[in-house]
Amino acid sequence: MPKPTVFVTRKIAAEALDRLTAHAQVETWEQEDPPPQDVLLEKAARVEGLLTLLTDKIDAVLIDSAPNLKVISQMAVGFDNIDIAAATRKGIPVGNTPGVLTETTADFAWALMMAAARRVVEADKEVREGIWRAWGPDVLTGYDVYGATLGIIGFGRIGQAMARRARGFNMRILYNDPHCGHEAGVETGAECVSLDELLAQSDFVTLHTYLSDETYHLIGREEFAKMKPTAVLVNTARGPVVDPDALNWALRSGKIAAAALDVTEPEPIPRDSPLLSLKNIVIAPHIASASKATRLRMAQMAVDNLLAGLQGERLPNCANPQVYG
Ligand code: DGY
Repeated sequence: MPKPTVFVTRKIAAEALDRLTAHAQVETWEQEDPPPQDVLLEKAARVEGLLTLLTDKIDAVLIDSAPNLKVISQMAVGFDNIDIAAATRKGIPVGNTPGVLTETTADFAWALMMAAARRVVEADKEVREGIWRAWGPDVLTGYDVYGATLGIIGFGRIGQAMARRARGFNMRILYNDPHCGHEAGVETGAECVSLDELLAQSDFVTLHTYLSDETYHLIGREEFAKMKPTAVLVNTARGPVVDPDALNWALRSGKIAAAALDVTEPEPIPRDSPLLSLKNIVIAPHIASASKATRLRMAQMAVDNLLAGLQGERLPNCANPQVYG
């Protein structure tokens, strides 16, 4: 029996790729930038399996023009780049990689929060530019994290991991989620509150929601207006959860004190974005899950999903279980 054909849209860890090549004929996109859409369309039209990243647009056009496609395996927990309804309609299971990146992503969200609160990037930039201001009572003063109130929007795995970290910092923890009564809430002493209450009371607001029609621009002008002028916003979820124009307005007008983003709308952030000229924002290029160990685990999990799909088995982690009826 010939091996099934697979297109892998970026170079993944050799250990994971070797496992895949033992069972499939693999073609890998070797460049650092994502394959252009016409290439992706052309490859998808021929293969039985796709291993994708969140920068690949897997829309209905692509799915409908891929007659042999049996499985799409995304190396990420989020899958808003994939038209799940179109895949489900065609009976194609979509895999994702939840769980393995939780702590790594929460570590990075925490690092961003600390960096924005204590102006780490701004201070580093000054020193590199030859500016070493004499120790002074108000030089580069920021905000305390220890003992402050943390507001977590979206209390899934990563939101809960933030709550556990917050315990060690003696923080009051609030969360907003469609479901209250999470066990992790009880464990960490986190209170489930309305969005308005969370925005009004939190010193730090951290976002951990999926991107959906409900969460698109969830944080806009109205929400910023409800926040403390000393508040810090952290976004490691998806860029479009925050309205970038409203964020620019909030940071410039002092509606909030600072922000730290790992995700932007769009990605990459345009070179002429007004956010880039602000001092009170830290921006990273979507790297919250980027530890070597985690990226290996994600690649292995994506390969597990892909192999299961190629063999007609249920995916160990399936984003559209409704495909199985
Ligand atoms: C995800 O997995 O969805 C993150 O955004 C990248 O690791």
